[in-house]
Amino acid sequence: MKILVTGNMGYIGPSVIRQLRSSYPGATIVGLDIGYFAHCLTTNGILPECMVDLQYFKDVRFVEKETLKDVDAIIHLAAISNDPMGNTFEEVTLEVNHRASVELARKAKEVGVKTFVFASSCSMYGAAEDSARTEKAPLNPLTAYARSKVFTERDLEPLASKRFKVTSLRFSTACGMSDRLRLDLVLNDFMAGAVASKRITILSDGTPWRPLINVRDMARAIDWAISRDVANGGNFLAVNVGSDGWNYQVKDLAEAVANQIPGVEVSINKDAQPDKRSYKVNFELFRKLAPQHQPQVDLITSVRELKEGLEKIAFKNENFRESNFMRLNTVKQLQNRGLLNEKLEWIKK
Ligand SMILES: NC(=O)c1ccc[n+]([C@@H]2O[C@H](COP(=O)([O-])OP(=O)(O)OC[C@H]3O[C@@H](n4cnc5c(N)ncnc54)[C@H](O)[C@@H]3O)[C@@H](O)[C@H]2O)c1
Repeated sequence: MKILVTGNMGYIGPSVIRQLRSSYPGATIVGLDIGYFAHCLTTNGILPECMVDLQYFKDVRFVEKETLKDVDAIIHLAAISNDPMGNTFEEVTLEVNHRASVELARKAKEVGVKTFVFASSCSMYGAAEDSARTEKAPLNPLTAYARSKVFTERDLEPLASKRFKVTSLRFSTACGMSDRLRLDLVLNDFMAGAVASKRITILSDGTPWRPLINVRDMARAIDWAISRDVANGGNFLAVNVGSDGWNYQVKDLAEAVANQIPGVEVSINKDAQPDKRSYKVNFELFRKLAPQHQPQVDLITSVRELKEGLEKIAFKNENFRESNFMRLNTVKQLQNRGLLNEKLEWIKK
């Protein structure tokens, strides 16, 4: 078995590679990434890329069919991966997350790849706090990032066939430690504030709903998607990935973090404009289809692991929202240094 993981050099990638190594010990695992965050490591140990058999430094916008030959399964994580980047680089977000993803799937199908797993997002439900949304609910993407995921799912569906199984995993918001940690994710941000300055600053009024999932449980869902039986779910499947118990309001997440560190002060911005991105999600379909791959890591464990992970690297940066742990900052810095052009392609001088 040969598995290609795009976007493996990001936040979720290292967990995914570890999971695949353990579930498919005989597999050849290939990584493909443009490398924007290659230097944003939280480990001074072995590079996560040493876990793959072959690493391509490539842009998914320009992958040749040759690269996909003999691949059995593609796990497609590569993306402009959040709303702040999507707002700043709207056209690139649509180009990479939508058009290049569909093109990649099309080429993959042509050369005989059998399985395509797409990292989608529950953010496509947008404003949906009145009732937990199932996969059949109307979509309401509020940002360029969320729209890019909607468009990709729409265009992947007709490509699916008996010989080309497509699974779109609509992930909850990720949390947890990683060799390439992101702090632009709600729980990780709160823990960083708590560890660095004993202060959690909620940027909204704290009421928005977010379903969460630990990165290791995302990797387990991907593992399931590779080998899922099409008799359940069909050739194309879009499924919410998370668990009903993990639908939280942002202020509850702050409290869960504060409870682990004595003396942490939580400040809520009462004057904040309402954050329209608030959604509760229903995970019944995922429970039914993947009973052996349900999320296992609970909120408290995630919080404790983040605390330990940050303490281990002696994390003290009170200004972390200006740091390289925020994806948008890193990309902007690379541009300011003349390394990336306006299309976020490397300038190879
Ligand atoms: N983190 C979350 O909360 C979350 C939730 C739902 C879905 N997802 C999806 O999961 C995937 C991975 O998320 P992440 O948190 O690891 O993001 P990340 O930003 O940490 O990683 C994305 C990776 O994609 C690579 N990449 C970007 N553009 C590329 C291009 N043109 N060619 C090749 N590689 C490119 C980047 O270099 C990076 O290593 C994304 O598709 C994201 O939308 C993430």
